[in-house]
Amino acid sequence: MNIQQLLVERFTSALNILGFTDAPVPVAKNTKKGFGEYQFNGAMGLAKKLKQNPRDIAQQIIDAVDISDMASTLEIAGPGFINIHINNMWLSAQLSAVLSDKRLGIDIVPAKNVVVDYSAPNLAKEMHVGHLRSTIIGDAVVRCLAFLGHNVIRQNHMGDWGTQFGMLLAHLQDKLAQDQVAETALSDLEDFYREAKVRFDNEEGFADTARQYVVRLQGGDKECLALWKNFIDVSISHSEDIYKTLGVSLSRQDVMGESAYNDDLATVVSILKEKGIAQEDAGAQVVFLQELADKNGKPAVYIVQKSGGGYLYATTDLAAIRHRSSVLQADRTLIFTDARQALHFKQTEMVARKANFMQPDEAYQHCPFGMMLGKDNKPFKTRTGGTVKLIDLLDEAVERAEKLVLGRKPDIDPQQLAQMKSTLGIGAVKYADLSKNRTTDYVFDWNAMLSFEGNTAPYLQYAYTRIQSIFEKAKFDPAAHAQSTIEMSIEQDAEKALCLHLLQCQNALELVAIEATPHILCTYLYELASLYMRFYEACPILKDDVSRQSKHTRLSLCVLTASTLKLGLDLLGIGTMQKM
Ligand code: ARG
Repeated sequence: MNIQQLLVERFTSALNILGFTDAPVPVAKNTKKGFGEYQFNGAMGLAKKLKQNPRDIAQQIIDAVDISDMASTLEIAGPGFINIHINNMWLSAQLSAVLSDKRLGIDIVPAKNVVVDYSAPNLAKEMHVGHLRSTIIGDAVVRCLAFLGHNVIRQNHMGDWGTQFGMLLAHLQDKLAQDQVAETALSDLEDFYREAKVRFDNEEGFADTARQYVVRLQGGDKECLALWKNFIDVSISHSEDIYKTLGVSLSRQDVMGESAYNDDLATVVSILKEKGIAQEDAGAQVVFLQELADKNGKPAVYIVQKSGGGYLYATTDLAAIRHRSSVLQADRTLIFTDARQALHFKQTEMVARKANFMQPDEAYQHCPFGMMLGKDNKPFKTRTGGTVKLIDLLDEAVERAEKLVLGRKPDIDPQQLAQMKSTLGIGAVKYADLSKNRTTDYVFDWNAMLSFEGNTAPYLQYAYTRIQSIFEKAKFDPAAHAQSTIEMSIEQDAEKALCLHLLQCQNALELVAIEATPHILCTYLYELASLYMRFYEACPILKDDVSRQSKHTRLSLCVLTASTLKLGLDLLGIGTMQKM
């Protein structure tokens, strides 16, 4: 249920009755207290167009709109705003309907095929913090899209191809010849890469061997491909360890690495040449983008094939677009990478559209994110300035959570501790990332993310657990409660504010789905927990002098708050606990 949408529908009918067809229907949430919960802001624009008094137009709309069930009062404010006061009886009825609904009143939307390209580590190296962001944010968006009913197709566009594999395979071959197994040799990809690079730069003959490996690999040499496959497999399993620790929904089936497009690259370039989109420039195949010319009128240069014949990241992305459009039938593609790749995707989209590699109405949405910074506001690094191994970071999160739990409950049962430390630790890391608007850089701060106060995972997880303990104390069964026939009655301000917010979950999820910004859901949940706290302080639930109806209503608000918190955290990929 989307209250805002319902209001838009009612006002649209009213405008149609008045003959104002095709007029915009702006309905917004009202944040000022005492002015109703929503506001219709369309009268002023209409009045301007018709050269009439906006307050008169507003009055005509009020007379025409059929809304008495939903709204108790409509009033004109200022130059012609219409303030909408939502009816408590209507809210009570919605609360009862949503309470017995498994989907908590969240409707399925018209399904689209949405390709989501996220995580996408480069297999030559360890996953780094940039991939952590892509993985966490992408996975939350995927879950929200799927819950709303979209057909989500995950694509893990892993960097598993390219000239650097020549050097790596040559080095691996030598290690295997010394009787090492690949798993051991590749246990630390960062070290392995460094060793190979040192040999490449210094060891006589090694660079040549490496180059031969590249040629053999690209030529489809069986032995070389087997070696490559071995490398890739070990590296993917490193990523899988991280996915498992993080509770991320990616699996092997979602891997569609760069290598998968290898056979299409020549086709891509030849189509671009045929259509006159790419042309030769100093031996390379290039698309000149006049639309993105610099201030001297020099067009942007987008290379699709190097002078030696090699293909690039860009060529692969064009091939991916073709595949996603024609084979996966994408209506929409979302790609999560750091903001530095924004220009690349802008240019890629431009070239792909010129070449008709996708349907004209197909959406291609690069979803950039900022950098993860250390406390010194510089890119996140280890104390010695190296890249942080993700698995170490996640281990530290769990360790810190364990200390935190033991500090509060020294004699906690070991099994509970094991579950709590990972749910809390991993949840904290994920939520810290998800709760910031992804486009900005953010400072990674252990103390802030593991705090039980503020907009953090522990705060929300704790809010959920507190409600569970109320139920336990009252020996209350939420499932049986949903079947009760006692009528609801929302009366107090705090009840109303909480109820209204509970019914706005769909709106938050739809925004996440459109903008690919999970922080909107985080803000929603944080507000929910805060409104719940206010309600809990203002409205006694189990006291003797509370009427049957009030008790029922308030318990219903508790049940729905708990289920909404759980659902929301679940969609963010974050766990909850019955007890903490
Ligand atoms: N592997 C790339 C990187 O680490 C990200 C790939 C994103 N997806 C894409 N279709 N280019 O930067």
